[in-house]
Amino acid sequence: MPRILITSALPYINGIKHLGNLAGSMLPSDVFARFHRARGDEVLFICATDEHGTPAELAAAAAGQDVRAYCDEQHALQRTVADAFGLSFDWFGRSSSPQNRELTQHFAAVLEAQGLIEERTDQMVYSLQDKRFLPDRYIEGTCPICAYERARGDQCDNCGSLLDPVRLINPRSTISGSTELEVRDTRHLYLLQSKLQDRVRAFIDAHADWPLLTRSIAYKFLDEGLIDRGITRDLSWGVPVAKDGVARPGFEEKVFYVWFDAPIEYIAATREWAEATGGDWRRWWRNDAGAEDVRYIEVMGKDNVAFHTVSFPVTLLGSEEPWKTVDMLKSFNWLNWYGGKFSTSQRRGVFMDAALELLPPDYWRWYLCAQSPESSDTAFTWEQFQSVVNKDLADVLGNFVNRILKFTDSKFGGVSPSGGEDGPLETKLQETLLAQVGLLTEALEGLELRKAAQALRQAWVLGNEYLQEAAPWTAIKTDPDRAAVIVRTALGLVGLYARLSRPFIPFAAEKIAASVGEGGPLEVWPDAAAVVAALKGPPPGAALSTPDVLFRKVEDTQIAEWGEQFGGA
Ligand code: 2FM
Ligand code: ZN
Repeated sequence: MPRILITSALPYINGIKHLGNLAGSMLPSDVFARFHRARGDEVLFICATDEHGTPAELAAAAAGQDVRAYCDEQHALQRTVADAFGLSFDWFGRSSSPQNRELTQHFAAVLEAQGLIEERTDQMVYSLQDKRFLPDRYIEGTCPICAYERARGDQCDNCGSLLDPVRLINPRSTISGSTELEVRDTRHLYLLQSKLQDRVRAFIDAHADWPLLTRSIAYKFLDEGLIDRGITRDLSWGVPVAKDGVARPGFEEKVFYVWFDAPIEYIAATREWAEATGGDWRRWWRNDAGAEDVRYIEVMGKDNVAFHTVSFPVTLLGSEEPWKTVDMLKSFNWLNWYGGKFSTSQRRGVFMDAALELLPPDYWRWYLCAQSPESSDTAFTWEQFQSVVNKDLADVLGNFVNRILKFTDSKFGGVSPSGGEDGPLETKLQETLLAQVGLLTEALEGLELRKAAQALRQAWVLGNEYLQEAAPWTAIKTDPDRAAVIVRTALGLVGLYARLSRPFIPFAAEKIAASVGEGGPLEVWPDAAAVVAALKGPPPGAALSTPDVLFRKVEDTQIAEWGEQFGGA
């Protein structure tokens, strides 16, 4: 049985995520996981909250909470909305777990033993009032090049120049506004990525099947030359720089950089899962324990690609231990909010919890799959959302299911009718549908989300076309046996749609399946033989139930109201 390990990029702990985060990692990885499970593959689907770093500390401070208590609360909230969206993680871990602390410290130790970590002295800006070193983006001042007054320590948003905080004129802390800043020496650990340049290039070269977006980002960094990277920070919240419980001398007040420990959490979360469930994490992550046979798929937005094509591979390969590395790195572009960006810090856009107050999860899931920012950035607009949902879900799928079940109810007393034999229309339907299911399956195997959604939609369309052409409402008047064949075939389609649609819209799929009494095989992805068998429909006499409206149309008034409420255009 194939084994598939899927990880979704880990959402930051600071607040419930917006639709852009959902569309770029958590949702597509869920669709792939559900598809592979339906195929009968052994799947392990891992996600976690990314809890360390300055943003988490500041968010906790802003909420007046101790940072651990803040993370406990936010993790629980994120888990609740993830469940409500049907994200079927096998484990939703936490990068602040003891497992991650141990593993992060382990990697640091072995990398140092391999000569890939060294101590260096940095000059960093210290804020006397905030009593902390300030990361570059928490320093603001006047740009030395264009005189823009709100240039950040790392970059000027006005002229685009890359800056160094020590070059800013009149620098101040964005945390307190204080200008009492000074440059201080501080010791940090550096991961010598430059030493692994050739190894990493060979690793990327070996994955010629990765999407262009992934590869182009990886080669950009390789072509510029890998730079050694500071992997510790002057902070208190994070993985302590320690070994066997003893702090590294001079590093008592420091922790590992959040981007060093975050990807390690993929492994650590699997250990969390193993400890909670009795599973064996080694057979997923250690090549000396069978992980060589696992197909490992990582899913993420494009801003995370450099960390996963360069930094995390350096950690794994540089350790010289037999760790599993990624087989397929699937990356996504941005889902934008109208012309601009979704923003967590500025609360711009629709967030997962707010979305569920407006409409059930499948509406969002479908829209975000059908309009996935896969090959380019795409923009969310209320109008487009309304149009996709109304056309695809209400007019095509919902309408088909309701129409045939209502008809069965009124003409055949709500049971699958007997009599009749397949005719040319059924033969044609079978052929076109087989081809369509083939396209859908291929797209999902290739992790092509938009293509898959299109193929599924087209499969729904075929059902409507069949019904239109076969016209059971006419046949019933003159040839009840013919009408019975059409009804059984259409009911068979309903059951099939439940199975094919489940990775995308699991909640509606469940309802649809129940209406045709499809119990067991809902979990099974249909092969050609199963498609043919499904089209025979439920056995004559089987009782059916009409679901209440599957999808309500999104009204113009709602769009207007939500546009007001959320800003939008
Ligand atoms: O960009 C982000 O949202 C990060 N929290 C992703 C981390 S992915 C992994 F490396 F942990
Ligand atoms: Zn400037």
